[in-house]
Amino acid sequence: MAQRARACTVCHGDQGRAGPDGYYPRLAGKPAAYLYQQLVNFRSGRRHYAPMAALLTNLDDAYLHALADYFSAQTVPYPAPKPTTQSNAENEQGRKLVSEGNKAQRVPACTQCHGLKLTGVNPDLPGLLGLPVDYINAQLGSWRTGRRSTTTPDCMATVAKRLTAAEVNAAARWLASQPVPLNAHAADHKPAPSQDTLELKCAELAIAQAEPAVQEPRGAYLARLGNCAHCHTARGGAPFAGGRAVDTPFGAVFSSNITSDPVYGIGAWNTDDFWRALHHGEAKDGRLLYPAFPYTSYTHISRADADALLAYLKTIPAQARINQAHALRWPMNTQLALRVWRVLFFKPASTEPVSIGQSATATSAAYARGAYLVEGLGHCMECHGTRNVLGSLSGASVGSVLPGSQWFAPSLNDSAQASVSNWSVDEIARFLQTGVNGKAAAQGPMAEVVQHGTQYLTDADAQAMAQYLKALPPAANVVARSVAAGTSTSTNLSAGAKLYETHCADCHGLQGQGRANAYPALAGNRAVLMDNTNNLILSALNGGFAATTKGNARPFGMPPFMLQLNDGEIAAVLTYVRGAWGNQAGALTEFDINKLRRSQAP
Ligand code: HEC
Ligand code: HEC
Ligand code: HEC
Ligand code: HEC
Ligand code: HEC
Repeated sequence: MAQRARACTVCHGDQGRAGPDGYYPRLAGKPAAYLYQQLVNFRSGRRHYAPMAALLTNLDDAYLHALADYFSAQTVPYPAPKPTTQSNAENEQGRKLVSEGNKAQRVPACTQCHGLKLTGVNPDLPGLLGLPVDYINAQLGSWRTGRRSTTTPDCMATVAKRLTAAEVNAAARWLASQPVPLNAHAADHKPAPSQDTLELKCAELAIAQAEPAVQEPRGAYLARLGNCAHCHTARGGAPFAGGRAVDTPFGAVFSSNITSDPVYGIGAWNTDDFWRALHHGEAKDGRLLYPAFPYTSYTHISRADADALLAYLKTIPAQARINQAHALRWPMNTQLALRVWRVLFFKPASTEPVSIGQSATATSAAYARGAYLVEGLGHCMECHGTRNVLGSLSGASVGSVLPGSQWFAPSLNDSAQASVSNWSVDEIARFLQTGVNGKAAAQGPMAEVVQHGTQYLTDADAQAMAQYLKALPPAANVVARSVAAGTSTSTNLSAGAKLYETHCADCHGLQGQGRANAYPALAGNRAVLMDNTNNLILSALNGGFAATTKGNARPFGMPPFMLQLNDGEIAAVLTYVRGAWGNQAGALTEFDINKLRRSQAP
């Protein structure tokens, strides 16, 4: 776990002892259920810090528990507290508030929940000692403005809103000036409620459990492969209730509520209505749907599978969430433009099996099943196909940059990009089911596809998709690529080499050889060598974990470097990586890095 947690300790310090300047909070020794709840909160948007949210997106609950348990079990001495600069009167105000509360404003004593010694209470109440004053101030401030929140009952939101700014400051300073007792650990019980305990009760936090494994109905399996829940669930929102923005070149399209709610969802739809949506791209009320809903692929779904999907969706608890208006630019915000687009680019599939990419092996039933899943439910070409200026997919896949995220979805027909023609069927199946296979690790949007979709493939379906993907013909129009642009000067190469040794070699090896089953090799890695360098730069800026899957339950993580290295340094280290150990790809400039850094949400 110590190795796996290195993506965290770049900021949180060795063993989670806190960063040097107090900005990155300590994790060591905090109650495990508390740490776990915070990780869930960052992932779902109840707490905000973009670099952490990005790191956690692909991790499942079980892995978050494992990370929380690891940091909770670390024992690291606390640094001596800084002497306080506040007056005796302020000091006394802080002490009194923490240990007695403020009855007039109905603020309970902090010790009531955080323990008489203020070292926390198991399983989920954190201690308040050993925290820097700025951190305590910032946290109480965020509760007052709603920037930090947790699952109900959110007691701290109530407590913080009842405090004045002067009280927050006095309490934070007093707390930060207290020494942490030796061998401090969380108490097992809260103090007995005294007579003056205020009515504010903080029930044990509801701790989400990992989903139990149950036999799924067929529609549920199909919904996973189609990734329906992922697009139809807003971050932190109710499953299938819609509201997630899908970026298009023309603005954002918001997914619909497809829960069983008869008014706001699709509870009143019959199987014909649903078929019309999937197969023809039309809603029950006659609206033409935007192809951000990938019906250009789902049109290949069979009627039997569509019916099974609807049967499953009807079991999803109703949510009365009204659909959000799209944020599209003219003319694509009109039904007329959509009608024109459809005439030009959309033809509902015939009910014949798919005929794209037929080859000698086309006769096998597995190949046909694979084609059906890749072209239809799997909607792989929605990202991997090439879009023209009107946003529609054209046949040959030369790879394209995804609107919004800037990730580059490489061509599945080009062996310098994402073609898997050189992988064995087993290797391809392993990539789809676990996200890693020793040759590649799914990253960014592809990690989401694996985590929410393909990891659930049955072995037979994974093998079928692999057969079809392996047989995809090489694209005829693959652009001749520029080998070794060679613009890097020897000075920035040696600066890059130094940066590599300091920041990367520990994990990826001095020769870029990586470490089997942990850190990908960078020598000869096409994710490093591709002409389009977006993914390379995004990896270095944001870091990331591969998806957590049954086959790779505790993936290793890459730390984000956006804060540690500036644009020039990232350009230098990546230029080095692209030119060392036999790699021969062109240099990157500061400008390349800056362009992508600016495209990332703050
Ligand atoms: C880029 C720096 C960075 C990285 C990498 C990072 N964190 Fe954080 N983390 C922060 C900051 C900053 C905060 C405080 C945010 C705030 O003010 O709410 C934080 C807060 C937390 C908290 C809440 C602490 C508390 O006491 O409430 C937990 C738990 C946590 N991080 C765990 C992790 C884990 C686990 C990882 C690795 C998977 C990780 N972090 C990676 C910067 C980072
Ligand atoms: C009714 C119970 C209750 C009372 C009273 C209470 N707290 Fe809390 N406090 C909590 C809970 C629960 C959490 C964890 C919140 C979460 O999951 O985000 C928490 C978390 C915190 C944190 C975040 C610690 C971290 O590592 O990020 C701070 C700071 C804090 N409380 C300060 C205070 C102060 C100061 C007082 C007194 C003025 C106080 N609390 C009174 C229940 C309480
Ligand atoms: C890439 C994201 C994405 C995926 C994956 C996706 N959807 Fe959608 N879906 C959307 C968006 C966006 C809309 C809204 C389109 C519009 O309003 O024009 C939508 C609309 C719909 C509608 C029309 C509802 C209405 O009346 O507005 C249905 C039904 C639907 N989706 C079902 C599904 C099913 C079933 C799946 C899985 C097989 C699925 N979707 C997967 C993005 C997605
Ligand atoms: C939401 C967009 C999206 C969808 C849908 C999608 N992919 Fe990807 N895929 C990507 C991106 C971005 C990358 C590049 C990042 C990476 O290498 O992991 C990628 C990479 C790949 C790679 C190359 C891995 C490597 O590193 O060599 C393969 C193979 C692949 N995808 C197959 C598929 C298949 C099969 C499907 C359908 C089940 C699919 N993808 C659906 C976006 C997508
Ligand atoms: C703590 C270990 C660690 C350090 C330090 C580290 N990496 Fe990584 N790196 C990883 C892991 C783990 C992955 C796989 C992440 C994933 O699958 O999303 C990775 C992935 C990558 C990738 C994508 C490879 C692929 O096949 O998709 C690149 C490029 C990369 N790292 C470059 C660097 C550079 C450059 C540095 C130094 C600036 C660096 N790494 C430092 C652990 C590390």
